Amino acid sequence: MPEDYFRRVSPRELFTNGAPLEVDLGCGDGSFALALARHHPDRNVLAVERLLGRVRKVCRRAHQEQLENLRVLRLEARYTVEWLLPLHSVSRLHLLFPDPWPKARHHRRRLVQRDFLKALHDILVPGGEFLFKTDHEDYFQWTKVEVAASGIFKPVDWPADAFFYPQTDFEKQWRAEGREVFRLRAVGKES
Ligand SMILES: C[S@@+](CC[C@H](N)C(=O)[O-])C[C@H]1O[C@@H](n2cnc3c(N)ncnc32)[C@H](O)[C@@H]1O
Repeated sequence: MPEDYFRRVSPRELFTNGAPLEVDLGCGDGSFALALARHHPDRNVLAVERLLGRVRKVCRRAHQEQLENLRVLRLEARYTVEWLLPLHSVSRLHLLFPDPWPKARHHRRRLVQRDFLKALHDILVPGGEFLFKTDHEDYFQWTKVEVAASGIFKPVDWPADAFFYPQTDFEKQWRAEGREVFRLRAVGKES
């Protein structure tokens, strides 16, 4: 729980060890954040989720496994990025299977928008990365266009075996149904 929701937290309020910070935005059941924290004890992982039941479940599992490098924040994703996280503090932000808002009249509710990308760029360290996955092709195309149009991110290759990247339970379920998963990796350009 941040002491004050109306100012940016300082990096030391999140973690005291200064290790690289990775953010899992809309972490759901936390399967990705937990696996990442387990695999990389030398990195800090902040999982963000608005539903209390899911937050409690991830906290419980992190506590059981004594994962000192995982914290869970119960807060709205856009607010977290735009107003709460410290500037130039995040090495990678993961946005995995966000709500696609398929109807055209709801597209403005999609998390990926020009102002969101600008705020995301502001919290990334130089050379920090945005990693995005979706099962929704239209949202994928939308994100590609927004990222290119932002002018502040450069898409980069993301080969399957580039680095450790666990599938969430949600992704495993989609793939088991034979559905395609689309992914995008972009590096923040130096400003
Ligand atoms: C489809 S699930 C994907 C969960 C997880 N990323 C995965 O891949 O398994 C989307 C998650 O994002 C959360 N979520 C949706 N909108 C959010 C918002 N505005 N702020 C925080 N969490 C949000 C939902 O509660 C849900 O847990």
